[in-house]
Amino acid sequence: MSRVALITGAARGLGASIAQRLHAAGYRVALADVQLEGVQQLADQLDPSGQSALALQLDVRLKTDFQTTCALLSERWGGCDVLVNNAGKSKVAALMDITPEEFDESMAINLRGTFVGCQVFGQHFADRGFGRIINIASLAGQNGGTATGAHYAAAKGGVATLTKVFARELAAKGVTVNSISPGPLDLPIVHETVAPDRLAQIKQMIPVGSLGSADYIADTVLLLAAENASSVTGACWDINGGLFMR
Ligand SMILES: NC(=O)c1ccc[n+]([C@@H]2O[C@H](COP(=O)([O-])OP(=O)(O)OC[C@H]3O[C@@H](n4cnc5c(N)ncnc54)[C@H](O)[C@@H]3O)[C@@H](O)[C@H]2O)c1
Repeated sequence: MSRVALITGAARGLGASIAQRLHAAGYRVALADVQLEGVQQLADQLDPSGQSALALQLDVRLKTDFQTTCALLSERWGGCDVLVNNAGKSKVAALMDITPEEFDESMAINLRGTFVGCQVFGQHFADRGFGRIINIASLAGQNGGTATGAHYAAAKGGVATLTKVFARELAAKGVTVNSISPGPLDLPIVHETVAPDRLAQIKQMIPVGSLGSADYIADTVLLLAAENASSVTGACWDINGGLFMR
């Protein structure tokens, strides 16, 4: 039977690209998002019979949603093998204007969501002796942000740290945990939230001269999810056009 992958935030953007790539590679994919309509459309497009693509409503802020999803996938497909913690929300905001409520909200989606996802599915994978977790972090978590707010950048820095903590905890159980830190990608959210003149400035700052490709990030997810990727864990994969070099 083919492996099962759960992708959060799969209704559009990077999550949709990752879901399409994993499905094309033979995975059964569970597409989860707060926006059920978006994931339903994509699941219908990938497999109208529902046998290899499933749309699910899941809010990453809620641990109970991950628990319900884990139980559902166990019943429907005998379990899950890969979790891609992709759901996130970036926001352009002036540093001194970010309210405590906005800060907490950003943490709940961008950091706590990854934490509870890793807890619930990390345990599920450990119990089964195999699993792959891929957390989508961001260059913002490494350099403080190019066009996004401090709350988002801080949360993404936390995602990279959590990746190492869960990787260490789960290493002996056949479960790997890695993060990918993309720089600005050629995706709708970037064009919707960054003014064209600012985007032109950003492109000029990128050493390779262009925005990153979601398809390539999806290829990297596939590589990290592979059975033979067992010795890669706790790593952060920088895909940022040369904007940040270690
Ligand atoms: N676009 C970029 O340039 C870029 C760069 C670096 C990192 N990232 C990261 O990649 C990931 C995807 O980004 P994107 O550009 O596709 O963003 P997007 O805003 O286009 O898509 C995000 C998806 O997550 C969903 N989502 C939001 N809150 C959710 C919640 N509480 N529970 C479940 N789903 C929720 C949204 O409905 C949406 O479908 C995010 O983690 C983002 O931080 C993006």
